[in-house]
Amino acid sequence: MCGIVGYVGHRQAADVIVDGLTRLEYRGYDSAGVVISPRGEAASKLDVVKRAGKLSVLKDALVTSPLQGTLGLGHTRWATHGKPNDVNAHPHLSEDYKLGIIHNGIIENYLELKQELLAKGHVFLSETDTEVMVHLIEEHYRGDIVEAVRNALKQVTGAYALVVSHADHDVIVAARATSPMVLGLGDNENFVASDVPALLPYTREVIFLHDGDMALITQEKITLTDFDGNAIEREVSTIDWDAEAAEKAGFPHYMLKEIYEQPTVLQNTFGGRFVGNGTDVQLDLKLDPMRVNRVVITACGTAYYSGMVGEYLIERMARLPVEVEVASEFRYRQPVLDANTLCIVVSQSGETIDTLEALREAKRQGAKTLAILNVKGSSISREVDDSLYIHAGPEIGVASTKAYMAMVAAFELLAVWLGRARGTLPDSEAAEIIKALRATPHMVEDAIKERHHIAEIAEAFKGFSDYLFLGRGINFPTALEGALKLKEISYIHAEAYATGEMKHGPIALIDDQMPVVCVATASELYEKTVSNIQEVKARDGIVIALANPEDEQIKAHADYVIKVPQTHELVSPVINVVAMQLLAYETAHRLGLDVDQPRNLAKSVTVE
Ligand code: M6R
Repeated sequence: MCGIVGYVGHRQAADVIVDGLTRLEYRGYDSAGVVISPRGEAASKLDVVKRAGKLSVLKDALVTSPLQGTLGLGHTRWATHGKPNDVNAHPHLSEDYKLGIIHNGIIENYLELKQELLAKGHVFLSETDTEVMVHLIEEHYRGDIVEAVRNALKQVTGAYALVVSHADHDVIVAARATSPMVLGLGDNENFVASDVPALLPYTREVIFLHDGDMALITQEKITLTDFDGNAIEREVSTIDWDAEAAEKAGFPHYMLKEIYEQPTVLQNTFGGRFVGNGTDVQLDLKLDPMRVNRVVITACGTAYYSGMVGEYLIERMARLPVEVEVASEFRYRQPVLDANTLCIVVSQSGETIDTLEALREAKRQGAKTLAILNVKGSSISREVDDSLYIHAGPEIGVASTKAYMAMVAAFELLAVWLGRARGTLPDSEAAEIIKALRATPHMVEDAIKERHHIAEIAEAFKGFSDYLFLGRGINFPTALEGALKLKEISYIHAEAYATGEMKHGPIALIDDQMPVVCVATASELYEKTVSNIQEVKARDGIVIALANPEDEQIKAHADYVIKVPQTHELVSPVINVVAMQLLAYETAHRLGLDVDQPRNLAKSVTVE
């Protein structure tokens, strides 16, 4: 999940690379480096600068030691093998400074390869798996760098995106096995990157590499082959994202900008999908709902919580049995699937390795597969039978906000679509839910207006070290998502429970040192929720309730009330999550923490 940028053309490569890495910094940010080639001058060497720390440290180093040249590679790292320091930072170079390598992913058999290479006299400097590739390619090099990379890759197992340059060759060699990589086609210049945003200021014409693709990139052209050297062709796509969309638009943090974008995101997710006088949903899917008798949803982190909301929605509206499981567990427990099972994977990036592998397991077992995705052209989109895009636009903040809301909205659409097709959702109920969905953009705007009040609550409790989140029914996942958001960006310990579970254990924790955030919006179980809140109050607990503006009763039981617009219970998770996002944001901001790049995390987790 590190960032890669490679350039060959007429500009100073270091400038293009650092600019691109800045746009990818959210992918990983514990060290960074650049290698520049003097482009084929005899007996020349590569120049390198790499530093532990954020990209700003590398930028400072490049001011003191500028790198000149028009072919180069750059990297921001999120450490897997070896701690973040200057030596382990990429690029990795051969001893003679001829060969430079950058790599995302994991070389799974690196220890075995390392032993063989050590026995042959290679000297290793770093603790990384990547350095094995330097020595392996050197071992195969007989004057043809492309041939050397190809032969080295035949010995390697794992998931990787690899870019290679050699001082004696005017080419960048790129290879992909699982980890994402995209090529940018310019005018008398060409690019390679791990993600599209790095390319947007320079070109919108891109080629997404597939697994097993190699690209030979020169200033004039790009040649594609498989790992055996056979020529292949890939479609050129035109990216229609606005480059501005990836900027902060005046907000202090991407996360806050993305929270405020949510009303528009909902409009985009719903766009053109409501039909038939507001009683039906149209989705461009190949799936036949009548050939499904069971649904399995799998995803990671926030996407997984959206899947938990999906479980409630699909069971209620389509009357299909649904199971939800974290993708990192899914494929290792030999799940039982068949041709009538619909396996739904959910992923903002479409690159999360656990989710991708869960999809592959479902396909191996012959299940039908559907992905709820944000990024087009991602690895999951290329392997899945059907994709339902959420159209949330690029999400930069590591803590997912708008993608979560759009995923939940996509599950609402899918559940209505399945329910209508299967005859389990009557006209009147469908119309009621669609009406409520149509109103969500305005309601989310209103929910955001509570930010000021939420900021006061965040200020009051920013020094506390534990939080408890409670929610039940379709808002139990809202509580889970609230706890995850707070943990991720404020580093405050937070746990979430289904409200009714509290008395089976967590109630022992209640005291005046642990705020309890409880979803108490209108629902079938509202009265029971109020009783649970009273149980907390009876033990000197501090209650922060999410409640509807018309609810007068709640004020008597809660210390703080965050007002949340009232909607159909099945639609309420779309609205209720806003307060959770803002509480986490305002707390982390007040603690002076790096909201967009929280410690130890990366936006897209492409290693297991
Ligand atoms: O790109 P994905 O949706 O597959 O990512 C899944 C999780 O890694 C992601 O949601 C993660 O939990 C976020 N940091 C949550 O804010």
